[in-house]
Amino acid sequence: MSKKRIAPSLLAADFANLQRDIEMVNKSEADWFHIDVMDGVFVPNISFGMPVIDAIAKHAKKTLDVHLMIVDPDRYIADFAALGTDILTVHYEACTHLHRSLQAIKAAGMKAGVALNPHTPVSLLEDCIEDIDLVCLMSVNPGFGGQSFIENTYNKVKALKALITRKGAPTLIEIDGGVTDKNASELVLAGADVLVAGSYVFKSPDPTETILALSKQVNS
Ligand code: DX5
Ligand code: ZN
Repeated sequence: MSKKRIAPSLLAADFANLQRDIEMVNKSEADWFHIDVMDGVFVPNISFGMPVIDAIAKHAKKTLDVHLMIVDPDRYIADFAALGTDILTVHYEACTHLHRSLQAIKAAGMKAGVALNPHTPVSLLEDCIEDIDLVCLMSVNPGFGGQSFIENTYNKVKALKALITRKGAPTLIEIDGGVTDKNASELVLAGADVLVAGSYVFKSPDPTETILALSKQVNS
């Protein structure tokens, strides 16, 4: 079975010590950097903008997994490609022409991801799943770190896994929001490939150890 990946979300890092926290992730068992971009319009919060993301990209030595919680994401595809983004994820709810957005992301040399809000059914991806490299299932309402995990996510992971298998698609399943050691095993059992973890990692006494333990838990 392929390795289950851990993607610490820098939203929960100490922004006054960002380089320190990025180096911690570089040296840890983490697989990806998850970078949350919020515009204060699509979600009721603003995270950080291009100069900060550019600084993160300069230090981060692992896959850059960028989660855009912004309206009209097509406007920024070229910018994210230029700063070295590996996977660019847009929200289903923010894209009128999702297929076009996915093709534009790929044409810019990145993997294309689609995030679904908790209320958005997986079945809406039926006709484009083969074009999606990664589906990010939101297990909280996007906009803030530190929220509690929504239990219905397990059903969505199973439904998505069934769709991917039926279509023979190469799509990875990522879970974002409220991930901890309490739900990680069940998520992976249901079909998850990538676990994003913000508060659980960065608010723990020893983030390096927390990443290691989570990775071991889901890969044993
Ligand atoms: C929420 C973000 C998440 C967030 C997860 O809108 O997309 O990536 O950082 O944080 P935790 O793990 O604290 O729920
Ligand atoms: Zn995210």
